[in-house]
Amino acid sequence: MIRRFTVQAILAAGLLSQFARAQSLLQKASAVAGPRANPYADNECSVAAGAKLFRRECVGCHGEAGRGVGRPHTPPLATPFVRKANPGTLFWILQNGSASHRMPSFSQLPEQQRWQIITYLQSLK
Ligand code: HEC
Repeated sequence: MIRRFTVQAILAAGLLSQFARAQSLLQKASAVAGPRANPYADNECSVAAGAKLFRRECVGCHGEAGRGVGRPHTPPLATPFVRKANPGTLFWILQNGSASHRMPSFSQLPEQQRWQIITYLQSLK
C-alpha cells in the first residue's frame, strides 16, 4: 500500500517536472511580468547600441545574432516568440535571469542598456 503510494508520488513528481521543463523561460516570465512599453523601441541608435551590448553580454551563450549556436541548451533568440513578446516580459527576464537553468541576471546593467538590448533583440529577423 505504502509502496504503491510512493510509486505514484514519484510518477506524479516526474510528470510535474516534465511539465515545468516544457515551458520556456519566455512563457514563465510572461505569466508573472506585467506589460511595459520600451522607451527605446524602434530607435536606430538603440538597435546599434543594443547590438554592441548583446555581443558583450549575451553572445557567449546565445550565439551570434542570437542564433543559438553558443552554449548547448541555450535557446535561440532570433525567433517570432521573442520578437512578439511584450517588452515587459523581456525586461523581467533580464532583471531576474533563470536560476534553474543558468541564465544570469543582468540587473547590474543600467535600465537604458537593458532596454537597448531588448530593442536589438526585437529587431532580429
Ligand atoms: C551564461 C549563459 C547565458 C548568458 C550570458 C545569457 N543567457 Fe539568456 N538564456 C540562457 C539560458 C540557459 C536560457 C534558458 C533558461 C531557461 O529555460 O530557464 C536563456 C534564456 C533566455 C531568454 C528566454 C528565451 C526563451 O525562448 O524562453 C531570453 C529572452 C534571453 N535568455 C536573453 C538573454 C540576453 C538578452 C542576454 C544578454 C544580456 C542573455 N540572455 C545572456 C543562458 C544565458
